[in-house]
Amino acid sequence: MMKKVLAAVLVTMMAATLLCACSPQKNARLARLKIGVTIYDESDTFLSEMVACFKEDAEMLADENTSVSVTVRGAEDSQRMQNDGVESFIDEGCNVLCVNLVDRTAPSAIIDMAKEHNIPVIFFNRELVAEDLMQWDRLYYVGARAKQSGKMQGELAADAIKKDSRIDRNNDGKIQYVLLSGEPGHQDAIIRTETVVSTLEEQGIRLERLSFQVANWNRAQAQNRMNQMIQQYRSDIELVLSNNDDMALGAIDAYDKSNVTETDRPCVFGIDGTAVGLEAVKEGKLAGTVYNDKEGQALSMARLALAAFSGKGMAQLDLEDGKYIYLPYYKVTAENVSQFPMTDGNADISLQTG
Ligand code: GAL
Ligand code: CA
Repeated sequence: MMKKVLAAVLVTMMAATLLCACSPQKNARLARLKIGVTIYDESDTFLSEMVACFKEDAEMLADENTSVSVTVRGAEDSQRMQNDGVESFIDEGCNVLCVNLVDRTAPSAIIDMAKEHNIPVIFFNRELVAEDLMQWDRLYYVGARAKQSGKMQGELAADAIKKDSRIDRNNDGKIQYVLLSGEPGHQDAIIRTETVVSTLEEQGIRLERLSFQVANWNRAQAQNRMNQMIQQYRSDIELVLSNNDDMALGAIDAYDKSNVTETDRPCVFGIDGTAVGLEAVKEGKLAGTVYNDKEGQALSMARLALAAFSGKGMAQLDLEDGKYIYLPYYKVTAENVSQFPMTDGNADISLQTG
């Protein structure tokens, strides 16, 4: 009897030892990818949607060998705050950083910290100059080509003007337009503005610029600017070209609050295809927009994050110059708007500030 008990105790002990020996090994095999994402401003509509997609994609890349966690910080439009946030990410053990710079000309502090700790950095949406990206081989960029979006917006507007002679309301053979610009110095604001105008001209549209206003990608600021322009130009404005959807919607808000009748309102074009932007195209409030492929950008960034971390699968990503991934834009009008995802990717991204 005693022997039996002893044997049972022994077996239990051996099993326990085996179990103990087993579990740490299993843990050791589990690689932990910790991604720190920082965006320039937590209230930016397009970026909130894009980062919500990214979170989902990155977490889906986890498998039995790799766990994935994503933390997002907003930088309240302060480069200093963003640098501090990146320092905290490093202290917290992040091993890949995804950085949407506040000031795209000032990436050095972040690059230096990342280099010192050998942590790869994927910059996104706010494109830094090539020389900065060349500073180290573990720096990457994911985004889209601003020029393509400006050209597409110009083509959409030219098509509309050619199709509908009522857009030239005063029949003077010229289109009186105003332009709403994103942040000064941002590649998308500069290049979209240049290209949309040159494309319209190339398409044979004669233009007359009434006003150029900066509204920093922001709906409320655009509404303010548009209000002032409505006071000044009344029904003279025939076309509003906006560097993004939020500002285009701000312009429409201003008209909705004004007493300008429907027939005296301009044709409005945006860029992004945010959930609210697409909705406005569907309702016919926005004449057209250009889809900024947040799903494509998010997925590419998630795959790149995993490849940069594991050292595997980089070749399949087909990076340009070993550094860049650019996703194409798409034209959106009332005819094809239903083909685009009209969700905001659950844009609630549980942000931390820093
Ligand atoms: C642009 C986008 C804007 C804004 C900006 C922020 O690509 O069209 O809506 O999100 O990025 O950097
Ligand atoms: Ca006219």
